[in-house]
Amino acid sequence: MPTTAMVGREPELAEIVEMLQRKDLRLLTLSGPGGTGKTRLAIQAAAEAAESYPDGVWWVSLAPLRDAHLLVSSLADALQVEEQPGRELAESLAERLDGKRVLLLLDNAEHLLPAVAHEIASLRDAQGPTILVTSRERLQLQGEHVYAVPTLTDDDGVELFMTRARALEPALQTSSAVVELCVRLDNLPLALELAAARTVVFSPEQLLERLSQRLDLLKAGRDRDPRQQTLRATIE
Ligand SMILES: Nc1ncnc2c1ncn2[C@@H]1O[C@H](COP(=O)(O)OP(=O)(O)O)[C@@H](O)[C@H]1O
Ligand SMILES: [Mg+2]
Repeated sequence: MPTTAMVGREPELAEIVEMLQRKDLRLLTLSGPGGTGKTRLAIQAAAEAAESYPDGVWWVSLAPLRDAHLLVSSLADALQVEEQPGRELAESLAERLDGKRVLLLLDNAEHLLPAVAHEIASLRDAQGPTILVTSRERLQLQGEHVYAVPTLTDDDGVELFMTRARALEPALQTSSAVVELCVRLDNLPLALELAAARTVVFSPEQLLERLSQRLDLLKAGRDRDPRQQTLRATIE
């Protein structure tokens, strides 16, 4: 569970929670680039929708998995389904989930695509579980609902930056440099947090200056991935 306060996201949460409460929706993917806040939203939405899932809400991180086939054993671990002699683990897992109102949060699926989509499809076909996935790319499965996670609003971007920065530098004030910095970082939560961590060493004006220099380099065609460049500029 996250140890920092959630900033904004009320409309997004309301929409996602509403989808998770629908009985006809079995598979929902939160999509978007790295650092947009997919995991954060998914965990919060799952917690808020928990009442609709009397048999439990389970979070499984797929990030450490190197192979999509390991999804079944990870889920079995999480749900404490034991391996039984002469029986496929997937079968025991399906039996455990059968007819249960369970929400499975499968976090960070992108690096296992496309293989993991097949594994998730067999879960989707079981009677009972609803599956909430976070992934940069959608799974491209039938019955998949996709929610593209937007960036933060300008105000929420500034609030996230200032909250994180003030945890380190309580005297820091909001300024036009802060506002511009957040816009320049596309209000991307991960980028804002990385930049806020740098305020120990650099003022917001200096961070903005560094970012501008990098962007000038970019204009000169020295880099291919603006987002990566922007991110790197904040952490270097
Ligand atoms: N609305 C928010 N309020 C506070 N922190 C947030 C918010 N959205 C994202 N974060 C933080 O930003 C970072 C990146 O978010 P994360 O959910 O991990 O992104 P993703 O899963 O899309 O890569 C995390 O440290 C997360 O806690
Ligand atoms: Mg994530």
